[in-house]
Amino acid sequence: MLQLIYWSKPTFSLNKETLAREVKAVLEAARRNNGPLQITGALVFSKDNFIQVLEGPTDFVRRVFERIAVDERHRDVLVLGRRERAVRDFPSWEMAFVPDTPDNQALIESYCGEAGFDPRAIAPEKLFELMKALVVKNAAASVKPLVA
Ligand SMILES: Cc1cc2nc3c(=O)[nH]c(=O)nc-3n(C[C@H](O)[C@H](O)[C@H](O)COP(=O)(O)O)c2cc1C
Repeated sequence: MLQLIYWSKPTFSLNKETLAREVKAVLEAARRNNGPLQITGALVFSKDNFIQVLEGPTDFVRRVFERIAVDERHRDVLVLGRRERAVRDFPSWEMAFVPDTPDNQALIESYCGEAGFDPRAIAPEKLFELMKALVVKNAAASVKPLVA
């Protein structure tokens, strides 16, 4: 099973309404498509950044990521890490969502240090760990279990 993590920047306006509408549409697509492809994962939105982990059968993860990478709702898509895993980090979520809250920002900053948010400055292993910690922290909010 492949796990892939990338970073990107939204292209849409960051006002509250637009953000909520765009994120909802993205999550609906993810939750519609990922289950049948046995893909699970997490999407973090923080300040002006997306970070997403996709995990599942290698070919399916590649296929979905190719589609995501050309999506015009974000730009500067940069793969930060890839690894083979026997066990999922996000078995319960077709796509968990971690919203932009002060608590989540604080957790992100505790991994990034004082330099602020720069995922390139964090080792990929640490980034995967951060994603998992964020999802655990937000487990009650806005997530839909994967129906196996
Ligand atoms: C940040 C971001 C994350 C996305 N994550 C997923 C995803 O996990 N799965 C997925 O199928 N589409 C995802 N999409 C949407 C895809 O780019 C694409 O619009 C969608 O897969 C098309 O599916 P549809 O033909 O069913 O609408 C994401 C898009 C963005 C901008």
